[in-house]
Amino acid sequence: MSALDAKLTAALASREDRHIRRRLPQPTSASAPPSIDFSSNDYLSLSTSPVLHKHVLDTLAAAPDILGSGGSRLLVNGIAHARLETRLATFFRSPAALLFNSGFDANAGFFASIPQPGDFVVYDEYIHASVHDGLRAGRTAGAQFAYAHNDVDALRRVLEGIVKEHPRVQSGKSSVFVAVESLYSMDGTIAPLAEIVQLLEEILPEGNGHLVVDEAHATGIYGPQGRGLVAMLGLEGKVLARLHTFGKALAASGAVILTNVLIRDYLLNYARPLIYTTSLSNANINAAGCSFDMLEDGTAEKLATRLLDLSSYFLQLLRFELASIPSTILSLPIHLQHPQSTTPSLTSPTFLPTPIIPLMTPLPRPLSAYLLARGINARPITWPTVPKGKDRVRVCLHAGTTRAEVEQLVSAAVAWARDVMAEDEALRQRQRRRERARAVSGFMESKL
Ligand SMILES: Cc1ncc(COP(=O)(O)O)c(C=O)c1O
Repeated sequence: MSALDAKLTAALASREDRHIRRRLPQPTSASAPPSIDFSSNDYLSLSTSPVLHKHVLDTLAAAPDILGSGGSRLLVNGIAHARLETRLATFFRSPAALLFNSGFDANAGFFASIPQPGDFVVYDEYIHASVHDGLRAGRTAGAQFAYAHNDVDALRRVLEGIVKEHPRVQSGKSSVFVAVESLYSMDGTIAPLAEIVQLLEEILPEGNGHLVVDEAHATGIYGPQGRGLVAMLGLEGKVLARLHTFGKALAASGAVILTNVLIRDYLLNYARPLIYTTSLSNANINAAGCSFDMLEDGTAEKLATRLLDLSSYFLQLLRFELASIPSTILSLPIHLQHPQSTTPSLTSPTFLPTPIIPLMTPLPRPLSAYLLARGINARPITWPTVPKGKDRVRVCLHAGTTRAEVEQLVSAAVAWARDVMAEDEALRQRQRRRERARAVSGFMESKL
């Protein structure tokens, strides 16, 4: 074995030992999944929509360019690409839009290039890996701070600390970027965007506080025509940049950053994941455009309503069934344990139902395997994707999922938890018997 092979093998074996080795799941097809899908990010079930399917094929048949794209956007600026950008800027009420090949590239490119030397970046502790990768490649080393998830007081403390210690920030000469997701991918929590905007305006009144919102998981689901939570709250003018991705609810691929003309121009000059890559093929761009047709014509809103109703139903069932299960075996995360007394509204969107519902358990792999054996696909998520001690099976709901399927999932998860409880009890009884036997034999020996 070469030295390289030995090191790689040892690293994988170490992951195996710690039960965190990643593997590809079984190959599947969206049209014929082997099990009920509670795993994919196809929240609106658009990937199996016959209407979208036909629309894409008809559009491609009529498109002047289908194959490839010819190179980087900076070499070949396809008409389809340019048109989609213009359309998205209008649709999302943004001064400018810039396409990226993926959401990962967009975050990596933005955070590596836009924050300047002397600036600060503050991010929610649950921010996506792509933001971390961008920051690592960027120019704010030593000036990056995490704050506790969705905790506006914690964010306030971090921002106040930065302002206090750095007169350049106080005077508005250096900027502070705050990076959040509108709907967090692993927890299904919603960022308190309006409060964060207010806080930035209060603590950085010189206008040097900039909010950047990743709407990857909210795209298509929230807001008018599925334009996201920023649009739902009418905060378009208060956010420096928004990211919408096409690979999740839109059943396509690619992403767009919505921002101002200057930042778009700067990204075109400095964002390496945009400059040094072949842009998405014309077929991809046309397919994404067809998905946006479904947003524009109101289809997405109807599907999203069905999806979020299903989410409320699922939670109601789970809360009832999990009441008799110890939380050490299976539980909902704290934010979902009790029905909210506050009705979701524009000012308190953090209580909105979401399609992402984590089932917290220290045994995510056995639970996921148990479900899969019963035709239910919900994936285990462990460290390092989530913090240590926060392992879970993440349930992603879809507009096309039926109530009966959701009931099947709840019954199976609860049956698994009861099996674990029974095994724990049997183990405890065996231990008690052993202890009693030991005590009796100790007593007998002392008599001899
Ligand atoms: C919050 C968030 N941002 C960005 C991305 C990356 O988007 P894409 O899948 O288009 O690369 C993801 C995908 O996992 C995500 O969950």
